[in-house]
Amino acid sequence: MAVKEKESWGTRVGLILAMAGNAVGLGNFLRFPVQAVNNGGGAFIIPYLVCFLLMGIPLLWVEWSMGRFGGRQGNHSTPYILDSMTRRNFWKYFGVFGIFTNIGVAAYYCYIESWTMSYVLHSIMGTFRGLSQTEVADFFTKYVDVAHSTTGIPYEAVIFYILCLALNTYILSRGLKGVERAAKIGMPLLIAFGAFLALRGLTLGTSGASAEVPTASAWDGLNFLWTPQFDSLSNPKVWLAAAGQIFFTLSVGMGTIHCYAAYVRSKDDIALNAVSAGFMNEFVEVVLGSSIVIPIAAGYLGLDWVKENAGFGMAFQTMPFLFEKWGTFLAMMAGVMWFGLLFFAGITSSLAMGTPWMGFMRDEFDWGRKRGAWSFGLIVLLLGLPTVFFFQQGVFDEYDYWAGTVSLVVFALAEVVLFAWILGMDRGWKELNEGADIRVPVVYRYIIKYITPVLLAFVFLGSLFTPLNNDWQGAFDGLLAGNGWSLDNSSIIKQITNAGLYAQLHAATDPVVAEGIRQRIFFANLARGILTATFLGLCLLVFLSARRRAAKAVKA
Ligand code: ALA
Repeated sequence: MAVKEKESWGTRVGLILAMAGNAVGLGNFLRFPVQAVNNGGGAFIIPYLVCFLLMGIPLLWVEWSMGRFGGRQGNHSTPYILDSMTRRNFWKYFGVFGIFTNIGVAAYYCYIESWTMSYVLHSIMGTFRGLSQTEVADFFTKYVDVAHSTTGIPYEAVIFYILCLALNTYILSRGLKGVERAAKIGMPLLIAFGAFLALRGLTLGTSGASAEVPTASAWDGLNFLWTPQFDSLSNPKVWLAAAGQIFFTLSVGMGTIHCYAAYVRSKDDIALNAVSAGFMNEFVEVVLGSSIVIPIAAGYLGLDWVKENAGFGMAFQTMPFLFEKWGTFLAMMAGVMWFGLLFFAGITSSLAMGTPWMGFMRDEFDWGRKRGAWSFGLIVLLLGLPTVFFFQQGVFDEYDYWAGTVSLVVFALAEVVLFAWILGMDRGWKELNEGADIRVPVVYRYIIKYITPVLLAFVFLGSLFTPLNNDWQGAFDGLLAGNGWSLDNSSIIKQITNAGLYAQLHAATDPVVAEGIRQRIFFANLARGILTATFLGLCLLVFLSARRRAAKAVKA
């Protein structure tokens, strides 16, 4: 094999910031507040924190350990990291998830990231000055909707998407140094911008109330998020949502952590690094993420409005309008800070998504950094353009569901079983503690072995067989009474068959509406076809690489 220059992280601070940057992302500021509001505010927080302790932290330790373990043997992406932990051949194909997920997620994630670039510019240009709330919301709708463009091409969206991918690719082509530098610049700025906006959210109080919404109060938003509700503990829907948020926000089950950790020197600490990056993410999510959108929106529009309209579009459709209430200069600054912070959050995560592919092609096919980075950019562009052109038809949501939600759980479940039961907890524990700068609490040995896999299995089965209307009690009663188990349209099984869309189609009386739904079904299938082809293509590459390795072994 050609002798490759061995890459590793420049400094410990750089590594922790890069790992924290990988975790801190759009999920912290866009997904977390929406999940919290949609799952009952304070009702969400306890399941969320329990999931962090029983699934998040253990998975962080498992993935860092696996990454350093594989890296020691020259493997920097999950197919061969998993392969190095077992004699069974098929595990490397499970490892494909750790490249696939990143490509699938990057395709739509970079699209959101590109909106933030464009919105920084619009904030500077004063585009939102003097616009009504509806006009600001419409601006976004026009931005993403092909139907509003006379040529059928949403030029601005496409141009910013390409620019965003080019920037990611350029930084990736500089290798770990580029990633480290981006994190060292991006993370402090993000925290500074976030702190400024959070301060505004925390001090707005009732000063945003107006004649139209006299009862508006930022306190209501904060109280709603922070008053724990213990009855939620028996609601599986809230637990599933909390677990899903923990996966997405920590980037566990994705393959990026393994890849970054594979570049850690073999005797360096991973135990403390993993929790440092994890807690930094939680600080940004729980403290900053909950102190911006929700209190500011509740402070001007009222809590009821927030509950009814919570969605991730709020960040783009509502925030610029609310910032305008702060006067020309502050509105511009707030826009730049808000979309700037989203941009830094996004790019430090999307850079991580490029590294598993690059690591794999470098390890197996001797591709250099530039070739690895630009090929990643090209693949993501090809996969991402359907999300740009057919955003309204749901391609974006399909990618988010299959690559950004389901795949994470499947892979996390597989890897924790591999680590704790196949490699074995004795070896796994030794690996985690090698060079550790903290004493990992012994209780985690049992949590990793028993509790995390069982919880993951519950999450997976719960998502696969979600009962009708999320009524678990009713579903179990029905099952015991011999009435079977009725699935909800949000269950994975029903999603595969597009049951929800077909139900809407049957109910539709307006031919235009029906045509819209037919289109959505077509694009849902198309998106899944693209994702499946990507997964199979990656399996083929793993197969070819295995043959290459075998041929080399024979020669040697
Ligand atoms: N962990 C990243 C985020 O939260 C993917 O956006």
